[in-house]
Amino acid sequence: MDRTLIVDVKKALSPCDDVTICGWIRTRRDCRGFSFLEINDGSCLSNMQCLVDEGTAAHAALGQAQNGTSLKLRGSLVASPGKEQQWEIHAKEITIFGPADPLTYPLQKKRHSDEFLRSIAHLRPRTNKYGAIFRIRSQAAFAIHNFFHQEHFAYVHTPILTGSDCEGAGEMFHVTTQTQAAKTQDDFFSRPCQLTVSGQLEAEALACGLGRVYTFGPTFRAEDSRTPRHAAEFWMIEPEMAFADLGDIMRLAEDFLKSVISQVLETCAEDLILLDKFVSKGLLDRLTSWSSQTPYARLEYAQCIDILQKSGKKFVYPVDFGVDLQTEHERYLAEEYCACPLLITNYPRSIKPFYMRDNDDQRTVAAMDVLVPGIGEIIGGSQREERLEVLERKMQALGDTVGDYWWYLDLRRFGSVPHAGFGLGFERLLMLLTGTGNIRDVLPFPRTPGSLEF
Ligand code: 4AD
Ligand code: MG
Repeated sequence: MDRTLIVDVKKALSPCDDVTICGWIRTRRDCRGFSFLEINDGSCLSNMQCLVDEGTAAHAALGQAQNGTSLKLRGSLVASPGKEQQWEIHAKEITIFGPADPLTYPLQKKRHSDEFLRSIAHLRPRTNKYGAIFRIRSQAAFAIHNFFHQEHFAYVHTPILTGSDCEGAGEMFHVTTQTQAAKTQDDFFSRPCQLTVSGQLEAEALACGLGRVYTFGPTFRAEDSRTPRHAAEFWMIEPEMAFADLGDIMRLAEDFLKSVISQVLETCAEDLILLDKFVSKGLLDRLTSWSSQTPYARLEYAQCIDILQKSGKKFVYPVDFGVDLQTEHERYLAEEYCACPLLITNYPRSIKPFYMRDNDDQRTVAAMDVLVPGIGEIIGGSQREERLEVLERKMQALGDTVGDYWWYLDLRRFGSVPHAGFGLGFERLLMLLTGTGNIRDVLPFPRTPGSLEF
């Protein structure tokens, strides 16, 4: 179809006799002698203002078309006398594709609640807020690929169907082709199969050949956490580096976040201004400061416990060395104590997965989490245990059948190297970038406990 995207029309340098746009009517105002239309095609936040003179063929074709109607409009691009926009189009020809009944169209010209818009997830991409969020989602993905590409990481794809529970948390969706309970050997793979909770183990194998790799793919967790930060299906970015230790991935994580935030600030200015105004006041200032050279805070887990105990705060979950940090603790540390992104290292061995490298103190592992104010954990990572005997001992202690992981142990048997990596929850990053308080609003079609519509 011969048409120009509104984002490009807006950049015109001179008037033009003949321009065609397509889009949906956002507003229509009928004045004496003509109608004003605001058309949006999703290519950018701002609408194209169009004028349709009464008594013309274009006006007749427009008929009673209202908010929500889709159309094609051909006309001339002229300088707009209005202050709001540089250009407007004077219509010569209009073709209606699909009308929308103003009485039943769910997107009325008023502000709708996030909850209501979740119930019409198929239509919310046509609103200013969700258009902005999903454009930012796209730009952020591109920024991530761009960062790793420049740092010489190879983009790898790890399996979605898997037989191993990388995180050992047992929160997996089981996959079967059998409709009845049947013997595992009769099932498709002749062994239990699940949806992946992390591509890390396979990414390690690829890193131990390609040196630097990253994954960017869907991840599934059947944890019944009904929080604004958990989804059952989300996207994770997992870089893995050979010949690297904990310090290397801490630097990588910080450089990575700063780079992605600055790229998005540059490419999504118009959408971010909207979100700063209507979704999260101070968003732009926050992002600007977190993209700058100022180093993020760094604390060891043991220091965090000390800080929390001395904080004088009443926590629902009491803190002591060995407990997993709860949201309330993470929020205090990131929001009140540091008031900036925070890297926490060296967690107790007992609360972390088997693959993390044992520290010499025999009670902590070389783990690293990144917390940000307003969200909590967005990155989890570690240096990996590269010593065969230590890893075997750790797996046996957990009761894992070492046999299932023979290939993972092989990486330590042949040319083992110190290596490290992390996982970033893409939607948690998007919550940070858009100021959105609920993960359901940065996923186009969120999957959460009890919710599988669309
Ligand atoms: O901390 P996690 O569980 O770490 C791993 O999976 C490692 N294998 C990563 C690695 O080292 N390669 O998860 C990593 C990140 C979390 O920090 C969080 O941002 C996100 O994934 N995440 C979720 N995001 C949305 N919904 C959920 N249910 C999530 N669970 C984890
Ligand atoms: Mg974690």
